[in-house]
Amino acid sequence: MNIGDFTTTLPTGTALQMNDDGYFGAKVARTYDQDHGGNDPIVIDRVVACLKELAGTGEALEFAIGTGRIALPLSASGCKVKGIELSNAMVAELRKKETDGSLQVEIGDMVSARIPGAFSLVYLVFNTIDNLVTQEAQTACFENAARHLVPGGRFLIETRVPPVQRIPFGQTTLAFACDEKHIGVDEFDLVNQTYTSNHVWMTGDRHEFLSIPFRYAWPSEMDLMAWGSPCFWSGLHATFRVSFSWAVNSFGVKFPSDECGLVSL
Ligand SMILES: C[S@@+](CC[C@H](N)C(=O)[O-])C[C@H]1O[C@@H](n2cnc3c(N)ncnc32)[C@H](O)[C@@H]1O
Repeated sequence: MNIGDFTTTLPTGTALQMNDDGYFGAKVARTYDQDHGGNDPIVIDRVVACLKELAGTGEALEFAIGTGRIALPLSASGCKVKGIELSNAMVAELRKKETDGSLQVEIGDMVSARIPGAFSLVYLVFNTIDNLVTQEAQTACFENAARHLVPGGRFLIETRVPPVQRIPFGQTTLAFACDEKHIGVDEFDLVNQTYTSNHVWMTGDRHEFLSIPFRYAWPSEMDLMAWGSPCFWSGLHATFRVSFSWAVNSFGVKFPSDECGLVSL
């Protein structure tokens, strides 16, 4: 094959852009459950059982509720659930799956948005704390969780322990997907604790590119975010006990991240 042949058969491509829905616009939202969301029913059942037990007789609030992948089955299990979510497109997908339209969702930033209610459990799963790309935003998210909780309530975060040990020495990139449909490579900035996930999806002779920025945090830093949150010590919550314990496989499954932290207020 000469260069001429090669260039004429190059696939045409599109770079997906960030818009008001953040990185989860209509195109991503439409296929999110199949392409991104862990949708193994056994895993979801276990996650739901864990969250239901933690919520007890109270209400649960999901930060970044997305398409309702977890919140809808949790609600169907009898737990009252509400959500906060940045992307209208993701919530539109949630509404398509809902049977009675009763799940209350506030469109907004989980760092600052409020939804009426007092919750026994606020949860943030599937590595989504990493979508907040500064330490300030992540700390503010802890504070916002605290604002929504009843005394004795809990804030649960499920996220991966940063996989930096797997980065080859002297390099900054790590491939996480490589098949005929999807290539994914994370690029890490080890000083600033940030990384960019670069995706290329290939369908026939077309490809789409999406690059999303994240910030990773170690369990110890999340401990400090909980301990340092003024809301936890505001007097309003004077009787609260704070403990942030990390439990490997708290959901009882390796899903899709394998660590989960729990703050009890
Ligand atoms: C990986 S998805 C997780 C969705 C859902 N929690 C799940 O487990 O399937 C990340 C979600 O976080 C939302 N998101 C990102 N940043 C956000 C923010 N600052 N406030 C609220 N939602 C946010 C995105 O729109 C997207 O729906």
